Amino acid sequence: MSLIPDEIIEHVKDATDILALVGESVDLKRTGSDWRGCCPFHGGTHRNFAVIPRKGLFYCYVCHEAGDVFSYMIKRFGMDYPTAVRELARKAGIVVPEKQQRVGPDPNEPLYGAVASAAEWFAHRLLESADAGGARAYIEKRDIALEVAAPHGLGYAPSGGAFMDAMHGLGIKDQVLVESGLAVQRDDGRVHARFRDRLLFPIHDIRGRAVGFGGRLLGPGEPKYLNSPETPIFHKGRQLYNLHHAKQAIRQEQVVIVVEGYFDVLRLVLAGIDHVVAPLGTALTPEQAALLKRVAPAAILLYDSDSAGLRATFRAGDELLRHGARVRVATLPPGEDPDSIVQKGGAAALAPILRDAIDVLERKILELDRRGWFRDVEHRREALDKLLPTVRAATDPITRELYLGLVAERSGVSREVLERELLSGPSAVTHAPPVAAAARDEQPRLRKRGNVGERTMLRLLLAHTDLVARARTEVRLEWLRDPLVMEVFSALLEGTPVSELFQRLSPDAASLTQELLNAEDTAGLDADATYAEALLDLEARPLLIAYHALRGSRADDEAGAEALESRRLVLKKELAAKYPKQWKQYIMRTRTTGRLGPRPPRRSNAP
Ligand code: CTP
Ligand code: MN
Repeated sequence: MSLIPDEIIEHVKDATDILALVGESVDLKRTGSDWRGCCPFHGGTHRNFAVIPRKGLFYCYVCHEAGDVFSYMIKRFGMDYPTAVRELARKAGIVVPEKQQRVGPDPNEPLYGAVASAAEWFAHRLLESADAGGARAYIEKRDIALEVAAPHGLGYAPSGGAFMDAMHGLGIKDQVLVESGLAVQRDDGRVHARFRDRLLFPIHDIRGRAVGFGGRLLGPGEPKYLNSPETPIFHKGRQLYNLHHAKQAIRQEQVVIVVEGYFDVLRLVLAGIDHVVAPLGTALTPEQAALLKRVAPAAILLYDSDSAGLRATFRAGDELLRHGARVRVATLPPGEDPDSIVQKGGAAALAPILRDAIDVLERKILELDRRGWFRDVEHRREALDKLLPTVRAATDPITRELYLGLVAERSGVSREVLERELLSGPSAVTHAPPVAAAARDEQPRLRKRGNVGERTMLRLLLAHTDLVARARTEVRLEWLRDPLVMEVFSALLEGTPVSELFQRLSPDAASLTQELLNAEDTAGLDADATYAEALLDLEARPLLIAYHALRGSRADDEAGAEALESRRLVLKKELAAKYPKQWKQYIMRTRTTGRLGPRPPRRSNAP
């Protein structure tokens, strides 16, 4: 994955003082052998957040965020893994060799260059050109001053050949224009500009590079918005509008506001509300939810209050819950969108609406109640069918507990029955990626923690301590999802003998350990083969999750379907390249079982 040599990663880890790192922004006080402070991830107000210097780990007893120095950087600051390593290396004065394998420039460099040149050209055109008069009038009509919009890179794409001429004048070839989505090749082979007579919102990747555009018609017509197509640098399911600008504010606020459209984002940003993003013309995807969860522990969904908006809200809500985020819903007065509210009353008009945001499940209950779904038994049954997918989506154990209580109370059905229903019930979740299916199998039985790969790995290490040394160099902590698994795993890596584990572990981790030790006899396992399989599974899981999520997604039109298909192919190629031997089996197995785990452990001595 990363091209940074493992020894360097280890070196950086050793050289980083987790206490000092966390202490930069969290006030820590010593309690026993740990240091405690207020959790920066869920914005806690009590000292439930522990830093354990001895283990190089942090752990929040409330929201269960946990990990090492690298996951701290990743989760807290939204970095990817290599960036986190480089950043900590820089602080520790360790030199990380530049990427070794890629010789020569990034093959996508011409595409970034073309989109950047185009963005600049479109922006100038809007400000200066005579043919942009209509566009300038349009912006003014929407009550946005040109001088304020300009720094956000708003642009105008004229009709006619001026754009193509300008790009050719800059030496940009047709092939690059087509590949970057700026131009379209017709059947007769001729190439013309994609965006014509549209107001353009430039879209940036998280590093702030312009990668595509959303283009709005100035008058009535279809489609109202035309977006860049999927390109090697623009992925509308994996990027978010304004995230590059918002990420700083999101970290400060510890929450992200999600709105539906470009104008909503622009209006809020102009009003001084920076922690806002929008998806790119599609429903919020699993990848976007994962991305958001990396920069903030919580989200506020601020969608239109019509029925389409509500449907989109609950869908996005489930997606975010699946990624462990806390989700609230802000409700706008009928007929308003964030743009119109702020246009009329400024940020002050939005403040009470954001303040009154309520938890997404509570919002759903409220809506069902309003429509009379709790009035009689028959309706209640259906109301439950609508609520359970959201409970099921909540992967965060505490949220799930709270949700179960809430639904039990509201529906009059006991928790026990609900829990059983959660395990067996029809999978009403429309877009649930298979990870949700796996989570459904395992999480509600409260002691059964972790996914199949995690459990298999732990079970092996408990039984075959000779494998611990291998795991120490081969298993990355950030592949582990479950904080309890992580706790046991780290204790093992530190060389704690199994006999002493129970004294060291938290009660929950101890009971998980006991359960794994009881689970099955591991003596007859072909340890090496099972280990190799579990290792691959842990590493491949993020890719497989993404792959299956794509398979489960629907597109709204043919172009969307094509885009989905091409992303799926890209992922498939990546899987095939990384796991040449296993990838087919992985995909097949997870398709038929809906689970991502390795096969049941192999036995070396068949009966
Ligand atoms: N959208 C899109 N393609 C369309 C219509 C909408 O991609 N044909 C996306 C755009 O990202 C847009 C968002 O959906 O910003 C919201 O669209 P809409 O609900 O139509 O928003 P409005 O508020 O009506 O848009 P505007 O304010 O520009 O009229
Ligand atoms: Mn609008």
